[in-house]
Amino acid sequence: MGIEAGLDLLACPRCGSGLDLVAAGAGRALACASGHSFDVAKQGYVNLLGGPEPGNADTAAMLAARQRVHASGLFEPVAAEVATHLVGRPRVLEVGAGTAYYLARALGDDDAGVGIALDVSKAAARVAARADRRIAAVVADVWSALPVADHCLDAVLCVFAPRNLAEFARVLRPDGRLVVVTPRPEHLAGLRDRHGLLEVPAGKADQLAAAAAEFFEPVANSGLVRAADVDAALAADVIAMGPNAFHRVPDDVTAGSIVVAVNIQVFRPLAPTAA
Ligand SMILES: C[S@@+](CC[C@H](N)C(=O)[O-])C[C@H]1O[C@@H](n2cnc3c(N)ncnc32)[C@H](O)[C@@H]1O
Ligand SMILES: [Zn+2]
Repeated sequence: MGIEAGLDLLACPRCGSGLDLVAAGAGRALACASGHSFDVAKQGYVNLLGGPEPGNADTAAMLAARQRVHASGLFEPVAAEVATHLVGRPRVLEVGAGTAYYLARALGDDDAGVGIALDVSKAAARVAARADRRIAAVVADVWSALPVADHCLDAVLCVFAPRNLAEFARVLRPDGRLVVVTPRPEHLAGLRDRHGLLEVPAGKADQLAAAAAEFFEPVANSGLVRAADVDAALAADVIAMGPNAFHRVPDDVTAGSIVVAVNIQVFRPLAPTAA
């Protein structure tokens, strides 16, 4: 499995046609009927970006820190809450998937589940390709047309990642769900005060609800706030996995209390209006 898992859902980024898995030299490729072809990397992901990786793609070091943080269970309550919204929704796209932690968790133990982990970072795709045999990992830019067929997905998941609401509406089935996790201003409080991390602006949930109204209606909206004690190594990893790592990771990170504070918003596509 791996990339094969996504074949019914993926679409050619050049022409939108379906993709088949074909032999290509010593390896494999995804190819459409018009002859566009994309090699499957030996690590199992496929690069559908069609250009260079942008500067804000997460690095291998950030991905490694993120894996250690997820292994610690710090974000487990978020993953558990997200998964409750995806029960009975077997075809799921996670955008800005990183390690595909939330996607693998959302697929649960459903053997028929299929996940597409999409990220603009090749380092992320390498990790996501190993996360779960039901996951197809693709490198693509969420700001471009997504390499996914129209109205084929039961859910789109977006956790701390950029959102292309028009494209999410295009790829979701009429009864599908969009699940978005955004940080609340108090997210990572403790760590933020001690180490002067980037601020989380207030009002993200309201801004999302307003922007989404063109394509979606809200179904659920909940907040989740948990405090935890972390040791110095885990605290340093929390900084190193996030946007602060693009600026600097302090070398004097200390143990202490930390807050995980997020909003989880669920939307369904608006019904098409009669022409
Ligand atoms: C803060 S991380 C979140 C990763 C994962 N959702 C998690 O919470 O563990 C944001 C992710 O979005 C990816 N990303 C940033 N810009 C993107 C874009 N334009 N298209 C797709 N992915 C993007 C980054 O490479 C990174 O993996
Ligand atoms: Zn094509």
